[in-house]
Amino acid sequence: MTGSDTEPVRIDTSRPHPARVYDWWLGGKDNYPVDEDLARKILAVDSTVLRGARANRRFMQRATRVAAEAGTRQFLDIGTGIPTEPNLHQVAQGVAPESKVVYADNDPIVLRHAEALLQSTAEGTTTYVHADVRDPDTILRLASANLDLSRPVALSLVALTHYLGTDPDGDDVYGLLERYVSALVPGSYLILSQVTPDLNPEAIERAAEHFRRAGTPFHPRSLAEFSRFFDGLELLGPGVIPVSGWRPEPQDVAVQAEGIVPVYAGVARKP
Ligand SMILES: C[S@@+](CC[C@H](N)C(=O)[O-])C[C@H]1O[C@@H](n2cnc3c(N)ncnc32)[C@H](O)[C@@H]1O
Repeated sequence: MTGSDTEPVRIDTSRPHPARVYDWWLGGKDNYPVDEDLARKILAVDSTVLRGARANRRFMQRATRVAAEAGTRQFLDIGTGIPTEPNLHQVAQGVAPESKVVYADNDPIVLRHAEALLQSTAEGTTTYVHADVRDPDTILRLASANLDLSRPVALSLVALTHYLGTDPDGDDVYGLLERYVSALVPGSYLILSQVTPDLNPEAIERAAEHFRRAGTPFHPRSLAEFSRFFDGLELLGPGVIPVSGWRPEPQDVAVQAEGIVPVYAGVARKP
Protein backbone atom coordinates (compact mmCIF):
# COMPACT_ATOMS: atom_id res chain seq x y z
CA MET A 1 0.00 0.00 0.00
CA THR A 2 1.28 3.46 -0.76
CA GLY A 3 0.31 7.06 -0.08
CA SER A 4 -0.54 7.92 3.50
CA ASP A 5 -0.60 4.28 4.61
CA THR A 6 1.20 5.08 7.82
CA GLU A 7 -1.47 7.55 8.96
CA PRO A 8 -4.35 6.25 11.09
CA VAL A 9 -7.55 5.90 9.04
CA ARG A 10 -10.05 8.50 10.27
CA ILE A 11 -13.62 7.90 9.15
CA ASP A 12 -15.71 11.09 9.21
CA THR A 13 -19.28 10.09 10.00
CA SER A 14 -20.55 13.68 10.29
CA ARG A 15 -21.14 14.05 6.55
CA PRO A 16 -21.91 11.64 3.71
CA HIS A 17 -19.11 10.32 1.49
CA PRO A 18 -19.71 9.23 -2.14
CA ALA A 19 -18.06 5.81 -1.66
CA ARG A 20 -20.34 5.02 1.29
CA VAL A 21 -23.51 6.38 -0.35
CA TYR A 22 -22.77 4.18 -3.40
CA ASP A 23 -22.16 1.26 -1.04
CA TRP A 24 -25.66 1.75 0.42
CA TRP A 25 -27.21 1.74 -3.08
CA LEU A 26 -25.35 -1.51 -3.81
CA GLY A 27 -26.74 -3.08 -0.62
CA GLY A 28 -23.40 -2.94 1.23
CA LYS A 29 -22.81 -2.57 4.97
CA ASP A 30 -19.94 -0.07 4.87
CA ASN A 31 -21.98 3.07 5.34
CA TYR A 32 -23.27 5.24 8.19
CA PRO A 33 -26.67 6.83 8.95
CA VAL A 34 -25.54 10.08 7.33
CA ASP A 35 -24.76 8.18 4.08
CA GLU A 36 -28.02 6.25 4.18
CA ASP A 37 -29.91 9.49 4.66
CA LEU A 38 -28.42 11.04 1.50
CA ALA A 39 -28.72 7.75 -0.43
CA ARG A 40 -32.44 7.58 0.43
CA LYS A 41 -33.03 11.25 -0.45
CA ILE A 42 -31.50 10.67 -3.88
CA LEU A 43 -33.42 7.42 -4.35
CA ALA A 44 -36.62 9.36 -3.62
CA VAL A 45 -35.98 11.76 -6.52
CA ASP A 46 -34.28 9.29 -8.91
CA SER A 47 -35.87 5.85 -8.71
CA THR A 48 -33.28 4.41 -11.14
CA VAL A 49 -30.35 4.85 -8.77
CA LEU A 50 -30.25 1.32 -7.31
CA ARG A 51 -30.21 -0.45 -10.65
CA GLY A 52 -27.97 2.35 -11.99
CA ALA A 53 -25.33 1.48 -9.38
CA ARG A 54 -25.58 -2.23 -10.22
CA ALA A 55 -25.48 -1.57 -13.97
CA ASN A 56 -22.45 0.70 -13.52
CA ARG A 57 -20.60 -1.94 -11.50
CA ARG A 58 -21.31 -4.53 -14.22
CA PHE A 59 -20.01 -2.12 -16.88
CA MET A 60 -16.69 -1.88 -14.99
CA GLN A 61 -16.44 -5.67 -15.05
CA ARG A 62 -17.31 -6.02 -18.76
CA ALA A 63 -15.02 -3.19 -19.86
CA THR A 64 -12.14 -4.63 -17.81
CA ARG A 65 -12.69 -8.02 -19.40
CA VAL A 66 -12.69 -6.47 -22.89
CA ALA A 67 -9.35 -4.73 -22.20
CA ALA A 68 -7.89 -7.90 -20.68
CA GLU A 69 -9.07 -10.10 -23.55
CA ALA A 70 -7.49 -7.60 -25.96
CA GLY A 71 -4.16 -8.32 -24.27
CA THR A 72 -3.90 -5.58 -21.61
CA ARG A 73 -2.03 -6.79 -18.53
CA GLN A 74 -1.81 -3.55 -16.55
CA PHE A 75 -4.72 -1.69 -14.95
CA LEU A 76 -4.95 1.64 -13.10
CA ASP A 77 -8.37 2.11 -11.48
CA ILE A 78 -8.96 5.53 -9.90
CA GLY A 79 -11.98 6.11 -7.65
CA THR A 80 -12.14 2.39 -7.09
CA GLY A 81 -14.70 2.41 -4.25
CA ILE A 82 -15.38 0.01 -1.41
CA PRO A 83 -14.65 -3.54 -2.59
CA THR A 84 -17.63 -5.39 -4.10
CA GLU A 85 -16.99 -8.75 -5.69
CA PRO A 86 -15.96 -9.31 -8.32
CA ASN A 87 -13.48 -6.46 -8.06
CA LEU A 88 -11.51 -5.26 -11.04
CA HIS A 89 -8.40 -7.34 -10.25
CA GLN A 90 -10.51 -10.49 -10.03
CA VAL A 91 -11.88 -9.85 -13.53
CA ALA A 92 -8.48 -8.93 -15.01
CA GLN A 93 -6.62 -11.78 -13.30
CA GLY A 94 -9.45 -14.14 -14.20
CA VAL A 95 -8.51 -13.53 -17.84
CA ALA A 96 -4.74 -13.36 -17.27
CA PRO A 97 -3.40 -14.24 -13.77
CA GLU A 98 -0.22 -12.23 -14.35
CA SER A 99 -2.18 -8.94 -14.61
CA LYS A 100 -0.96 -6.05 -12.49
CA VAL A 101 -3.56 -3.79 -10.92
CA VAL A 102 -3.14 -0.47 -9.10
CA TYR A 103 -6.17 0.92 -7.29
CA ALA A 104 -6.49 4.53 -6.12
CA ASP A 105 -9.10 6.37 -4.07
CA ASN A 106 -9.07 9.31 -1.68
CA ASP A 107 -11.65 8.03 0.80
CA PRO A 108 -10.34 6.72 4.13
CA ILE A 109 -13.00 3.99 4.17
CA VAL A 110 -11.64 2.57 0.91
CA LEU A 111 -8.13 2.66 2.41
CA ARG A 112 -9.49 0.71 5.38
CA HIS A 113 -10.73 -1.99 2.97
CA ALA A 114 -7.59 -1.95 0.84
CA GLU A 115 -6.50 -5.33 2.17
CA ALA A 116 -9.46 -6.95 0.42
CA LEU A 117 -8.37 -5.23 -2.78
CA LEU A 118 -4.86 -6.57 -2.45
CA GLN A 119 -5.64 -10.28 -2.69
CA SER A 120 -3.75 -10.86 -5.91
CA THR A 121 -3.00 -14.04 -7.78
CA ALA A 122 0.55 -15.30 -7.15
CA GLU A 123 1.51 -14.42 -10.74
CA GLY A 124 0.12 -10.87 -10.70
CA THR A 125 0.11 -7.92 -8.32
CA THR A 126 -2.49 -5.61 -6.84
CA THR A 127 -1.53 -2.48 -4.96
CA TYR A 128 -3.44 0.41 -3.46
CA VAL A 129 -2.65 4.13 -3.58
CA HIS A 130 -4.44 6.45 -1.14
CA ALA A 131 -4.53 9.65 -3.20
CA ASP A 132 -6.76 12.18 -4.90
CA VAL A 133 -7.40 11.88 -8.65
CA ARG A 134 -6.65 15.63 -8.84
CA ASP A 135 -3.05 14.84 -8.01
CA PRO A 136 -1.98 12.98 -11.19
CA ASP A 137 1.74 13.42 -10.50
CA THR A 138 1.47 11.51 -7.22
CA ILE A 139 -0.84 8.81 -8.60
CA LEU A 140 1.29 8.24 -11.71
CA ARG A 141 4.52 8.25 -9.70
CA LEU A 142 3.21 5.74 -7.16
CA ALA A 143 1.51 3.63 -9.85
CA SER A 144 4.74 3.42 -11.83
CA ALA A 145 6.34 1.52 -8.93
CA ASN A 146 4.10 -1.39 -9.94
CA LEU A 147 3.15 -0.67 -13.54
CA ASP A 148 5.51 -0.30 -16.48
CA LEU A 149 4.22 2.87 -18.11
CA SER A 150 6.20 2.12 -21.28
CA ARG A 151 3.64 -0.65 -21.88
CA PRO A 152 -0.16 -0.30 -22.34
CA VAL A 153 -2.37 0.32 -19.32
CA ALA A 154 -6.17 0.24 -19.01
CA LEU A 155 -7.01 3.41 -17.07
CA SER A 156 -10.48 3.38 -15.51
CA LEU A 157 -12.38 6.17 -13.79
CA VAL A 158 -15.76 4.55 -13.36
CA ALA A 159 -18.52 6.75 -11.88
CA LEU A 160 -15.90 9.27 -10.77
CA THR A 161 -15.85 12.23 -13.19
CA HIS A 162 -19.27 13.53 -12.05
CA TYR A 163 -17.56 14.55 -8.79
CA LEU A 164 -15.14 16.74 -10.75
CA GLY A 165 -15.82 20.17 -12.26
CA THR A 166 -14.52 21.80 -15.42
CA ASP A 167 -13.23 25.08 -14.04
CA PRO A 168 -9.64 25.46 -15.35
CA ASP A 169 -8.70 27.03 -12.00
CA GLY A 170 -10.42 24.23 -10.08
CA ASP A 171 -10.76 20.54 -10.88
CA ASP A 172 -10.25 21.04 -14.66
CA VAL A 173 -11.52 17.53 -15.36
CA TYR A 174 -10.71 17.70 -19.10
CA GLY A 175 -7.13 18.84 -18.46
CA LEU A 176 -6.80 16.20 -15.77
CA LEU A 177 -7.83 13.35 -18.07
CA GLU A 178 -5.49 14.64 -20.76
CA ARG A 179 -2.67 14.57 -18.22
CA TYR A 180 -3.37 10.91 -17.39
CA VAL A 181 -3.88 9.83 -21.01
CA SER A 182 -0.72 11.63 -22.16
CA ALA A 183 1.26 9.53 -19.63
CA LEU A 184 0.03 6.32 -21.31
CA VAL A 185 1.48 4.69 -24.43
CA PRO A 186 -0.51 3.84 -27.59
CA GLY A 187 -2.56 0.69 -27.15
CA SER A 188 -3.71 1.83 -23.70
CA TYR A 189 -7.41 2.05 -22.88
CA LEU A 190 -9.56 4.70 -21.20
CA ILE A 191 -12.67 3.31 -19.44
CA LEU A 192 -15.22 5.88 -18.18
CA SER A 193 -18.77 6.17 -16.93
CA GLN A 194 -20.65 9.05 -15.39
CA VAL A 195 -24.14 10.39 -14.59
CA THR A 196 -25.96 12.36 -17.29
CA PRO A 197 -28.95 14.73 -17.13
CA ASP A 198 -29.92 13.82 -20.74
CA LEU A 199 -32.53 11.18 -19.94
CA ASN A 200 -34.40 12.49 -16.86
CA PRO A 201 -33.07 16.04 -16.28
CA GLU A 202 -35.38 17.03 -13.43
CA ALA A 203 -34.61 13.97 -11.32
CA ILE A 204 -30.88 14.31 -11.91
CA GLU A 205 -30.90 18.02 -11.06
CA ARG A 206 -32.69 17.25 -7.79
CA ALA A 207 -30.22 14.46 -7.03
CA ALA A 208 -27.31 16.80 -7.79
CA GLU A 209 -28.84 19.38 -5.48
CA HIS A 210 -28.94 16.81 -2.65
CA PHE A 211 -25.25 15.99 -3.24
CA ARG A 212 -24.29 19.69 -3.26
CA ARG A 213 -26.27 20.46 -0.11
CA ALA A 214 -24.42 17.59 1.58
CA GLY A 215 -21.11 19.19 0.60
CA THR A 216 -20.26 17.09 -2.47
CA PRO A 217 -20.05 19.00 -5.77
CA PHE A 218 -21.83 17.00 -8.48
CA HIS A 219 -21.55 17.54 -12.24
CA PRO A 220 -23.86 15.48 -14.48
CA ARG A 221 -22.75 15.75 -18.14
CA SER A 222 -24.53 15.67 -21.49
CA LEU A 223 -23.59 13.24 -24.26
CA ALA A 224 -21.38 15.88 -25.91
CA GLU A 225 -19.70 16.83 -22.62
CA PHE A 226 -19.02 13.21 -21.70
CA SER A 227 -17.89 12.26 -25.22
CA ARG A 228 -15.30 15.06 -25.09
CA PHE A 229 -13.32 12.98 -22.57
CA PHE A 230 -12.48 10.63 -25.45
CA ASP A 231 -11.23 13.31 -27.88
CA GLY A 232 -8.18 12.06 -29.78
CA LEU A 233 -8.88 8.42 -28.85
CA GLU A 234 -10.51 5.58 -30.81
CA LEU A 235 -13.87 4.72 -29.25
CA LEU A 236 -14.66 1.01 -29.17
CA GLY A 237 -18.09 -0.07 -30.35
CA PRO A 238 -20.86 0.67 -29.55
CA GLY A 239 -19.41 4.10 -28.63
CA VAL A 240 -20.80 6.25 -25.85
CA ILE A 241 -24.08 4.77 -24.70
CA PRO A 242 -26.17 4.38 -21.50
CA VAL A 243 -24.22 2.02 -19.31
CA SER A 244 -26.31 -1.14 -19.38
CA GLY A 245 -26.25 -1.20 -23.19
CA TRP A 246 -22.45 -1.31 -23.36
CA ARG A 247 -21.68 -4.81 -24.67
CA PRO A 248 -24.15 -6.58 -22.36
CA GLU A 249 -23.55 -10.22 -21.46
CA PRO A 250 -26.31 -12.80 -20.89
CA GLN A 251 -26.34 -12.11 -17.12
CA ASP A 252 -27.15 -8.42 -17.82
CA VAL A 253 -30.49 -9.15 -19.44
CA ALA A 254 -32.43 -8.72 -16.17
CA VAL A 255 -30.87 -5.32 -15.33
CA GLN A 256 -31.37 -4.19 -18.93
CA ALA A 257 -35.01 -5.19 -18.85
CA GLU A 258 -35.54 -2.85 -15.86
CA GLY A 259 -34.97 0.06 -18.24
CA ILE A 260 -32.38 2.61 -19.20
CA VAL A 261 -30.31 4.32 -16.45
CA PRO A 262 -28.94 7.88 -16.63
CA VAL A 263 -25.28 6.89 -16.72
CA TYR A 264 -23.14 7.10 -19.86
CA ALA A 265 -20.30 4.70 -20.50
CA GLY A 266 -17.53 4.44 -23.06
CA VAL A 267 -14.22 2.72 -23.69
CA ALA A 268 -11.54 4.06 -26.03
CA ARG A 269 -8.09 2.99 -27.18
CA LYS A 270 -5.16 5.36 -27.48
CA PRO A 271 -3.99 5.24 -31.11
C1 LIG B 1 -19.55 6.07 -7.12
S1 LIG B 1 -18.07 5.43 -6.49
C2 LIG B 1 -17.54 4.39 -7.84
C3 LIG B 1 -16.75 3.18 -7.40
C4 LIG B 1 -16.28 2.26 -8.52
N1 LIG B 1 -15.41 2.96 -9.45
C5 LIG B 1 -17.46 1.71 -9.28
O1 LIG B 1 -17.83 2.30 -10.31
O2 LIG B 1 -18.04 0.70 -8.87
C6 LIG B 1 -16.96 6.84 -6.68
C7 LIG B 1 -15.61 6.65 -6.01
O3 LIG B 1 -14.78 7.76 -6.39
C8 LIG B 1 -14.05 8.15 -5.24
N2 LIG B 1 -13.65 9.55 -5.39
C9 LIG B 1 -14.45 10.65 -5.40
N3 LIG B 1 -13.71 11.76 -5.54
C10 LIG B 1 -12.42 11.36 -5.62
C11 LIG B 1 -11.17 12.03 -5.77
N4 LIG B 1 -11.13 13.37 -5.85
N5 LIG B 1 -10.04 11.31 -5.83
C12 LIG B 1 -10.07 9.95 -5.74
N6 LIG B 1 -11.22 9.24 -5.60
C13 LIG B 1 -12.37 9.94 -5.54
C14 LIG B 1 -14.99 7.92 -4.08
O4 LIG B 1 -14.31 7.85 -2.83
C15 LIG B 1 -15.68 6.64 -4.49
O5 LIG B 1 -14.98 5.53 -3.99
